[in-house]
Amino acid sequence: MIRRKFAKVGLAAVAAVSALTLAACSSNGGGSSTETTAGGNGGDGDLIKVGFSQLGAESGWRTANTESVKASLTKENGIDLIFVDAQQKQENQIKALRDFIAQDVDIIAFSPVIETGWDEVLQEIKDAEIPVVLVDRTVDTTVEDPYVTWIGADFRLEGEMAGEWVKENYPDAKIFELQGTLGSGAQVDREEGFDAVVGADKIIGKATGNFTRAEGKTAVEAALQAYPDMDLIFAHNDDMGLGAIEAIEAAGKKPGEDIIIVTVDAVRDGLQALHDGKFNFVVECNPVFGDQIVDLVKKVYAGEEVPKETIVVDATFDQSITQEEIDARLY
Ligand code: AHR
Repeated sequence: MIRRKFAKVGLAAVAAVSALTLAACSSNGGGSSTETTAGGNGGDGDLIKVGFSQLGAESGWRTANTESVKASLTKENGIDLIFVDAQQKQENQIKALRDFIAQDVDIIAFSPVIETGWDEVLQEIKDAEIPVVLVDRTVDTTVEDPYVTWIGADFRLEGEMAGEWVKENYPDAKIFELQGTLGSGAQVDREEGFDAVVGADKIIGKATGNFTRAEGKTAVEAALQAYPDMDLIFAHNDDMGLGAIEAIEAAGKKPGEDIIIVTVDAVRDGLQALHDGKFNFVVECNPVFGDQIVDLVKKVYAGEEVPKETIVVDATFDQSITQEEIDARLY
């Protein structure tokens, strides 16, 4: 069976037909779960009822993304939000998606924790004619046209940007790659992009830190034993890089000098570590796009044309970043 990996092609495709077809359904009211954050009478006909399944609260990036979603998908903006945190467990997300179908929401938005395993529930959502707005991460499914539109970052490009910096500045580095949650779009694509640029032969070891600080620290503690020669870490996010700093310092080495650290996200803690000389290069992954999600939700609900993909643009930072720039960051 052919599997389709979505959200990897250009910006041109338009989802008008599916949007028009799917936007016809509307809320009948119905009960909302205890996780409803927007208050919600459930019966306010002017509001678009959106079920949002966030994958967890594993990182500073995720916290900032959740804040942006909750600050934007408000009643003032015409949205009745039902927000559910899946605590990084796919089974929790699948249950939340099924609850959204049962509650007859107008639109389902979700950020899938990993890429595969969604076929059944995506088909159920499709059968219920509820349009899907995919957020942040991508899906790999056999279901045809499983979502109307996707918004998120170009993870492969983020990996490539990290790789270009390493290739230019540390071409002979012995690299340990600290991977995000295995099977997630962010892990798969950052790794593909980075490895393609630096060359697989430069990577002496890999392990996952599941995008968390604690697991990043544990993974680097083990790596320091297993790969005593390693002199550069590419961490798929800041939180794991911050965990790496703790492990490296505990081993009596200097992060940013004895072991170069390159990360992705550019949350404030990560940029502070960069300014303090403990990180060496950071690729941004901007989590603040709640307002763009609202625009997409409204257009999809109204049956207007939306792009199949919206890419959130990222910058890069090196140690020349100033304290003023860090203090001015939104997250
Ligand atoms: O999907 C985006 C990634 O998820 C962020 O880079 C990471 O911090 C988060 O956990």
